Amino acid sequence: MPARPRPKVIVTRRLPQAVETRMAELFDVELNLTDTPMDASQLASAAARADVLVPTVTDTIDSAVLAAANGKLKLMANFGVGVDHIDLAAARAAGVVVTNTPGVLTDDTADMVMALILSVPRRLAEGEKLVRSGEWSGWSPTGMLGHRITGKRLGIIGMGRIGRAVATRARAFGLTVHYHNRHRLPLEVEGELEATWWDSLDAMLARMDFVTINCPHTPETHHLIGAPQFALMQRHAYLINAARGEIIDENALCEALAAGRIAGAGLDVFEKEPAIDPRLLDLPGVVLLPHMGSATFEGRQAMGEKVITNIRVWADGHRSPDQVLEGWA
Ligand code: DGY
Repeated sequence: MPARPRPKVIVTRRLPQAVETRMAELFDVELNLTDTPMDASQLASAAARADVLVPTVTDTIDSAVLAAANGKLKLMANFGVGVDHIDLAAARAAGVVVTNTPGVLTDDTADMVMALILSVPRRLAEGEKLVRSGEWSGWSPTGMLGHRITGKRLGIIGMGRIGRAVATRARAFGLTVHYHNRHRLPLEVEGELEATWWDSLDAMLARMDFVTINCPHTPETHHLIGAPQFALMQRHAYLINAARGEIIDENALCEALAAGRIAGAGLDVFEKEPAIDPRLLDLPGVVLLPHMGSATFEGRQAMGEKVITNIRVWADGHRSPDQVLEGWA
């Protein structure tokens, strides 16, 4: 039997070396050795030449890029779980299957959420800067006071895989777990997590000491947290976001922080990455990270392996395990 032609796969960013090597063994692969994010015309050119595109969160795959595919592109095997940078409706209309990499970055992201929950009220970033500045004059009874975590209420927005992994960690730190989710969890899961469901997000926000965002960014969650929500939150509350920046109205967040409407924020993601509202850089009680929630060697390797599996299963004529939209052939 003649060998089947290898699919043409274009990868938009550098991936872990072992992943790129394996892809080169399996596919007719075109790598982006400079790791420079592709602009719209480069993405359109890639979509027109590839059977499979492997984009990441830094690529905007809009209807123009998908139109350029012109029937050639068949699969978009996203390297990452979030797919809000891909116009899913346009992909569906163009007959392009979209896959992602769920599950393998859950623990790493939940760890990062916990790290932010610890960092902001305990002033870790400030303390670290103080030591490095050479101006630390030693321990003092009133030095570097922050706020206790144990015994406080944590409100989790979005109780999917990552939200639940955060809940498990939070209980170990003595936080009581509350959550708002479109659908209430089965009672046995709620019981295991000792989590309290709030039908009303607003009602939950008004009672929490910490709020963490762990839902996907969709049209429904865009600016889910804005000025009206900050007005409801307690003045001593902290907001944590390691999901997507667009879920928070960043301008309203800056205003809320500056006005002392909330006590602080721990942010791993921003509304217009990599740009950051300059006010955030000067506000107290804010910890800023460069979208590194899933940035572990193990996680990125596993994400790459998922991408490869999704491509191979699709190339074999089957439904990829991580196909994003239900009901696609
Ligand atoms: C994800 O997987 O969604 C990470 O945020 C990187 O895109």
